[in-house]
Amino acid sequence: MTENKSRWAYSALCLASFLLLPVMRCSPPEDPIKCSSGTTNCSIANSYATYPDRSTCRAARAVFPETENELLAVVAEAARTGTKMKAATRYAHSIPKLSCPDGDNGLIISTKSLNRVVSVNASALLLTVESGMILRELIKVAGDAGLALPYSPYWAGVTVGGMLGTGAHGSSLWGKGSAVHDYVVGVRIVTPASPAEGYARVRSLGADHPDLNAVKVSLGVLGIISQVTFKLQPLFKRSITYESRGDGDLAEAAVKFGKQYEFADITWYVGRGKALYRKDSRVSLNDLGDGQYDFMGFRSTARAGLAIDRVTEDAMEALGDAAGKCAAATVITSALSLAAYGLTNDGSLFKGYPVIGFQHHLQASGSCLNSPEDGLLTSCPWDPRITGKFFYQSAFTIPLSKVRDFILEVQKIRDLHPDALCSIDINNGILMRYVKASTAYLGKEEDGVDFDITYYRSRDPLRPRLYEDLLEEIEQMALFKYGALPHWGKNRNVAFDGAIGKYSRVEEFMRVKDEFDPAGLFSAEWTDQVLGIEGKTTSLVKDGCALEGLCVCSEDRHCAPEMGYLCRPGKVYKDARVCSHVAKN
Ligand SMILES: *[C@@H]1O[C@H](CO)[C@@H](O)[C@H](O)[C@H]1NC(C)=O
Ligand SMILES: *[C@@H]1O[C@H](CO)[C@@H](O)[C@H](O)[C@H]1NC(C)=O
Repeated sequence: MTENKSRWAYSALCLASFLLLPVMRCSPPEDPIKCSSGTTNCSIANSYATYPDRSTCRAARAVFPETENELLAVVAEAARTGTKMKAATRYAHSIPKLSCPDGDNGLIISTKSLNRVVSVNASALLLTVESGMILRELIKVAGDAGLALPYSPYWAGVTVGGMLGTGAHGSSLWGKGSAVHDYVVGVRIVTPASPAEGYARVRSLGADHPDLNAVKVSLGVLGIISQVTFKLQPLFKRSITYESRGDGDLAEAAVKFGKQYEFADITWYVGRGKALYRKDSRVSLNDLGDGQYDFMGFRSTARAGLAIDRVTEDAMEALGDAAGKCAAATVITSALSLAAYGLTNDGSLFKGYPVIGFQHHLQASGSCLNSPEDGLLTSCPWDPRITGKFFYQSAFTIPLSKVRDFILEVQKIRDLHPDALCSIDINNGILMRYVKASTAYLGKEEDGVDFDITYYRSRDPLRPRLYEDLLEEIEQMALFKYGALPHWGKNRNVAFDGAIGKYSRVEEFMRVKDEFDPAGLFSAEWTDQVLGIEGKTTSLVKDGCALEGLCVCSEDRHCAPEMGYLCRPGKVYKDARVCSHVAKN
C-alpha cells in the first residue's frame, strides 16, 4: 500500500514537472541520443549535454542493433552508401566529441542494446561480453562467476566499448597496471569492407594478433567493437584504509606509495595542503568483512541540495570569494571523511577502517544510475536537466620520473595564492591514480600518475573563473613542460593540441586505421584533429577561447579583457599563457 502510494506520488511528481517544464523528464540519466521523429533527425551530446566547445552534434539517423549480425548489416549499409558513422554508448560519459559523426547526415550506432554476456569460462578465467555492457554489469557478471576484473574506473556508468575507446583505467602500478584494455585478450570488431565482402566484415582478433594493440585503445575510429574477451583473475578481497595528512612530503611520497599498495590512490586537496592516502591491498578471501562502496559523489542526490550548492558556488565566483571556497571545501571534505567516502563495513554502516570486502563490491560505484523515476527530485549530481554540477575535468598522466618535480611546482603555484586552488578541493580534490605503460599503441607510453582535476565551469562560456590563470598554468605546465598524456575521454581542447606527437607508435595505429576503414567513415573532424591528420589541431581560436580551454591565449581577446582578464605569462611556468585578472589602477 505504502509502496503503491509512493509510486503514485512519484509518477504524479513526474507528470507535474513534465507539464510545468516540458524539457524535464524523470531521473536516471537520459539517453544522449535524441531524435525528432522516431529514429531520424537526431542529435547527440555527452551525458553533460554539451561538448567542450558547447556544441551538440546532429545525425540523420540513429540505430540500436541488438546483435552482432544486425550491427554488421547496419555498418554494411552505411559503408555501401558512404555514410559517416559513430558508435554511441548508453550514457555517453566521454567529455570530448568522440560520439559525434561528421556533418549532419551521419549515422549514430548505439551500443545500448548490445549488452549481453556472450560466454563465461571460470576455469580459464575468461569472460566475453558485448561492447555496450555497462561496467557495473561487467563487474557483477564477473563476481557472480567468482572472477574479478582487477582494476577499473571507479565510476560504474561507463561501457566496455567506451573504456577501450578512451583508455580508461583504475589505479595500480602492480602487474600489468590499471588500464582495463590491458586485460583484454580478444576483440570482435565490425569494420567496413570491400563490395565483394559485402561492404562490412567482422574481424576477430585474438591475444596474439598485433592489430589488437590498435583496437584496444582506438578512439572509435577503427569500426565498432561488438565483443570483448577479458582475462580475469579469481575473485579476491581488498582491505582499504584512508589516511589524511599534510601535503608537505607528497612530492617525495607519491611514487613510493604507489609501489607499496596494489590499489593505492591519493586525493590531493591542493588548496588546503592536504593529501588523502588510500592504503588499499589485496587480502585473503578468508579475511572477514563484507565492505561495500557507494561513492557519495555518484549517488542520487536531491535536486534542491544540488541547486543550493551550485548557486553558492556561482555566488562565490561572482564575489571573488576564494576564502569562502576554502571554508566550503573544509565542510565538504570533513563530511566525506566522516562518511568514509561512501565505504561501509557491511553494506549499511561504517564502523571503522580497515574496510574489507569483495573486489566486486568495492571497485566501482554509481548508484545514481538507478535513481528512481521521481521527476528529477533526485538524480546524478551533474544531470544536465537540473541546476547541478557543471565542471571541467582535466586529466593527464605525468611520467613517474617527473611526478616529484611536477608536484613541487604545483605547490609553488599554490603558495602564491593559498586560497586560489580551493576551487579544486570543493570538487573533491585532485584524484591521483597510478597507470602503467601499455602495449596499446594509444595507451600510456610510460608508467605514470594520472592527475584528474575537476573544477568549476560557468554556464556562460564568456565568463572568466576565479583564479583561472593558476589552473591554466598547471594544465599547460603538465602538458607542455612535463610531457603529460591527456586522458582521451576527458579534458578540454588544449590538452589534445599536439598530444599525438607524444605517442611513439602512431604510425602503427594509422596503418591499422587505413586497413580497417580506408574511407575514414568512422573518422570525424574531432578525431582527425586529435590524430593530427593533415596538420589539423584541436585548438579553436576565437574571442574568449582560452576561458573554455579551447585555445592557449596569445592575445588579450582570447581571455575577457572587458572584465580585466588579460593574456599573461605564467607565474612559475613562464612559458604558460594564461588569463590573469589584472587590477586596473
Ligand atoms: C529536425 O530536428 C530539428 C531540431 O530538433 C528541427 O528543428 C527540424 O525541424 C527537424 N527537421 C525535420 C525534417 O524534421
Ligand atoms: C574453458 O577453458 C578451458 C581451458 O582453455 C577448456 O579446456 C574448457 O573446455 C573451457 N570450458 C568451456 C565450458 O568452454
